[in-house]
Amino acid sequence: MRQILNVPLKNEYLITISDEKFSALKETVDSFTKTQKRLFVVSKKVYKLYSQELELNPQEVLILNDGEKEKNFKNYLKIIKKAEELGLTRKDVLIALGGGVIGDITGFAASTYMRGIDYIQIPTTLLSMVDSSVGGKTAIDLKDAKNLIGSFYQPKAVFININFLKTLDKKQFKSGLGEVLKYAFIEDNCGYKHSLFLFEYLTLGCEKVFEQEPLTIMRIIEYCLNLKISVVREDEKESGLRKILNLGHTLAHALETITRYRKYTHGEAVIQGIFFVLRWAYSKEMISYSYYRLSSELLNKYGFKEETFKYSPEDLISIMRRDKKAADGKITFIIPSDKKRVQELKLTEDEVFQMFQTKE
Ligand code: GLY
Repeated sequence: MRQILNVPLKNEYLITISDEKFSALKETVDSFTKTQKRLFVVSKKVYKLYSQELELNPQEVLILNDGEKEKNFKNYLKIIKKAEELGLTRKDVLIALGGGVIGDITGFAASTYMRGIDYIQIPTTLLSMVDSSVGGKTAIDLKDAKNLIGSFYQPKAVFININFLKTLDKKQFKSGLGEVLKYAFIEDNCGYKHSLFLFEYLTLGCEKVFEQEPLTIMRIIEYCLNLKISVVREDEKESGLRKILNLGHTLAHALETITRYRKYTHGEAVIQGIFFVLRWAYSKEMISYSYYRLSSELLNKYGFKEETFKYSPEDLISIMRRDKKAADGKITFIIPSDKKRVQELKLTEDEVFQMFQTKE
């Protein structure tokens, strides 16, 4: 099976979603880059598992460790130095082969090396397949601020092969589901012309998702990406509509930062952020009881439970204050406003403090 989606931006590109053999993926990438020098930036785990099947040439490879803490300036410089060592010029290409961390840091290196060279995304985790490999957000983190240094820089192509998911550990698969579920809560804002009923599809298809039934997984990736493309074509640089993709992220980034990226995967943190805003929206009568229940049940069905945090609201708010999304002393939240709809709200720190006190 092979599915092609088009991202219709100024620098248009294609996304291929397939379950083909890795030899087919290798051929596709080779033919796409046949006139270019290449540097593959590869996650250590992916290199161990797939370097032989993909016939990676060690000369063209830089291996990085996995995990958010690797998305740092030191590794960014390693990529730049390796590109220089290999003699990559403006005509050449970086290839990200790994999850969201590899994709973000490679994209950022591509956007700055020689003021910008091509890069390709080959996402290997569910999270990077459904979200981070598409849309051109690239970044590295500072110790206390996730994605503080970055750019909007679109890839030349995205090659998704769902066979990588067979070796993805359960925790990372669940993290990807966090971003998938996010799309179910924003579907009606995305401006996608066909109704996808992602909320219902995920409610009914939970077992097939956990079994990783190929057609279901391909369909989910396709649905999420169609929604994302629809948003990004309208607002590439997040001046308006694209902010809805940050549902759950205000609290998520604070939780990831306060726990030094060790306790929560990104998707788990996003889901805690979604529980948080759902509960608040319901308490303010912005959403109905039945939607609140259905939403909580959907998240529970996928194994997510709302947590009571032991971190103080003051500490979390002080991290939120430094978030890119904060401005004019206010903290931005994306809040459910109706079934499958959200809206942006800018709240004072006192109001955010009250959010933490909200009971159902
Ligand atoms: N992951 C959110 C975005 O690409 O805007």
